[in-house]
Amino acid sequence: MAAPRVLFVCHTGSISGAELVLLDIVVPFAGQSAFLFEDGPLAPALRGKGLNVTVSRWGQGLTQVRRDSSILKVIPLVGRLVAIVGELIGAARRHDVIYANSQKAFVLSAIAVLVARRPLIWHLHDIITGVHFGAMQRRVQVTLANLCASTVVVPSQACADAFIAEGGKPHLVTVVPNGLDIASETKSPAELRRELDLPNGPLVGVFSRLAEWKGQHVVLQALAEAPGVGAIIAGDALFGEQAYADRLKQMVSDLNLGDRVHFLGQRSDVPRLMSAVDAVIHPSIDPEPFGRTLVEAMLAGVPVIATDAGAASDILEAGRAGTLVPPNDANALAAAIRAVMAHPLELAAQLHYADARARSHYGVAQMLQTISGIIDRAAVRVPE
Ligand code: UDP
Ligand code: GLC
Repeated sequence: MAAPRVLFVCHTGSISGAELVLLDIVVPFAGQSAFLFEDGPLAPALRGKGLNVTVSRWGQGLTQVRRDSSILKVIPLVGRLVAIVGELIGAARRHDVIYANSQKAFVLSAIAVLVARRPLIWHLHDIITGVHFGAMQRRVQVTLANLCASTVVVPSQACADAFIAEGGKPHLVTVVPNGLDIASETKSPAELRRELDLPNGPLVGVFSRLAEWKGQHVVLQALAEAPGVGAIIAGDALFGEQAYADRLKQMVSDLNLGDRVHFLGQRSDVPRLMSAVDAVIHPSIDPEPFGRTLVEAMLAGVPVIATDAGAASDILEAGRAGTLVPPNDANALAAAIRAVMAHPLELAAQLHYADARARSHYGVAQMLQTISGIIDRAAVRVPE
């Protein structure tokens, strides 16, 4: 059988965790196609992997429209959404399998495949509960999935459980943990700090986009209770959360943390930055669907302190491969930071275990093999 013609669909042109996963998934699919609702750094990144990328004529700026936008703002959007579905129907007809990499990409692709009659895979990178999605949105997503998806790929059991709890058919779901391959850093933390212009002394790092649910504000509150500990905060407000980014800067000034907290903006050298700090903090206040930063920290050989919600407990094996703290609890986080800083040598066994676990459970090769199999199986199945 000839290799299936695959169309990867993304709603965003920005690159956060879900798009980084996709950039690995497409590697064996050079020569295939991607359709993006909007332009952005993802387009050249996918082209760099050999994909033919088309950007919608109608989708620019749609990701900035917030869920609570007024009806007056939403009505003109409907026409643009219909136009994107039209573009997707045309593109789908030229392919054998459609692979939607987000919930927005999935919903429009699902409507398109109802017309184009093509198998559709949904890579669902979210925990679909009321925390981030309205009741109507959840109902639409799950109904379309039950109707049109050949497989719903999720990165963790937490995502699978939420989908099924919302009425998703269990047999559709396959858990495919995200895979990461990162070369080991050969330089010492001291050398890296010099090269990267990072401060000396106890230093923690946070490596997530700036968004309230990612919890950077809790780290700032905790630092106020962890004297002498500095922090680097990498990441930007990728999806329109500029007000939160401004609030964080204001908190730094209100809490007098100006000489200890360094905002680095969006970086492309996260593994090196991680190797330079004494601990990585993953402070999400809502359940994390996966959390690539957890595995990146495990591979960097750095202690990780993460909030115990969503997939973190699975990835860190209930605390064996890192420290778990309750979400949104600055006191507990401060205590964990102080403990890690006070007894770094005691963590050697945990770091060794975390590294082995990351390599055995979260490799790119495993992820690619499973997903290629799912795509091949979808290609030979006629949609019901
Ligand atoms: N990241 C990055 N530059 C930054 C901050 C984060 O490249 O300045 C990367 C980080 O290394 C990770 C990804 O963005 O690979 C975030 O993925 P994760 O699954 O942790 O969370 P998401 O933002 O997708 O919810
Ligand atoms: C989403 C989730 C994150 C996950 C990533 C890749 O962005 O928020 O937890 O790691 O997708 O699956």
